[in-house]
Amino acid sequence: MADLNYYKDKVCIVTGANSGIGYAISEELAKRGAIVYMAGRSPEKIAKAAGELSAYGDRVRPLIMDVTKEEDVRKGIEGVVAEASRLDILFNNAGVGGTIPFEMATLEDWKTIIDTNLWSVIYGVHAAVPIMLEQGFGHIVNTSSIAGIVPPPFQALYSLTKYGVTGLTECLKYEYAEKGLHFSTICPANIATPIFNKGIDGQARGDLRIPDDAYPADKAASLIADRVAEHKGIIVVPEEPYTDLWKGYILDRPEIEEWLQKMAHDRRVAFETGGTYF
Ligand SMILES: NC(=O)c1ccc[n+]([C@@H]2O[C@H](COP(=O)([O-])OP(=O)(O)OC[C@H]3O[C@@H](n4cnc5c(N)ncnc54)[C@H](OP(=O)(O)O)[C@@H]3O)[C@@H](O)[C@H]2O)c1
Repeated sequence: MADLNYYKDKVCIVTGANSGIGYAISEELAKRGAIVYMAGRSPEKIAKAAGELSAYGDRVRPLIMDVTKEEDVRKGIEGVVAEASRLDILFNNAGVGGTIPFEMATLEDWKTIIDTNLWSVIYGVHAAVPIMLEQGFGHIVNTSSIAGIVPPPFQALYSLTKYGVTGLTECLKYEYAEKGLHFSTICPANIATPIFNKGIDGQARGDLRIPDDAYPADKAASLIADRVAEHKGIIVVPEEPYTDLWKGYILDRPEIEEWLQKMAHDRRVAFETGGTYF
């Protein structure tokens, strides 16, 4: 049973907070009584998003941070600690998607996605761990993906960054357990957010298309908040059927192997015929 008071007055930073999962987590944390620094790279977008949560008063605060810039991330985190005297939970959530045939990806695509999805998390962890060690407490929650525990074909770039996030976070979970720090890895499957019509550069393309099976972002945020409060390590969202998928992949179950082979085939056909593939 979730502890509904867990977040009361906890100082949290959420990156990628102006949209999708980051916005939904920010709202959920504010609802549960946290002080939420909503971080985003665009001053206009983050001011608008924080403004939409103005019902929570000065517990919701905008923070400007481009997560691909080490200095932005470090100064942003240090600024929050200077203002709020501590940092309880850092959500390294900002990121971009990327479903693209490997042979189409340029080295510039590789650099962009690694900067946005992996270096961003390294910068956040690198800045926050010394602060949390000095405090003697703190929780870092990194957004990976189901693609960070199961490798979807046509997502080699994305999956590389997300496996990196999972590995980093899981190592640190054990490394710092005796120091009072907690680490969680969020592994969402399809969540209904604008990510599906954005490219690796984060720019929107065409009309918003969301997979039919996508899970609502507000429900995802509520589940995430519950599991983070329980200090769970890997948090699969939604938990089923994706926990079974993950375990089936690890156990080399034939039906999961077939499912991945079929996904590869379907995506190749869609790519070659100009159809939709996510
Ligand atoms: N939705 C899913 O199905 C799904 C599944 C698995 C994992 N995820 C992960 O969940 C996280 C959130 O994605 P989402 O679905 O909520 O997508 P989203 O709605 O597109 O949100 C992505 C957020 O990241 C921000 N961002 C991107 N590059 C940034 C940068 N350089 N500096 C600062 N902020 C930056 C975006 O800001 P701008 O608006 O300024 O671009 C936006 O606020 C990502 O890490 C994604 O990989 C999502």
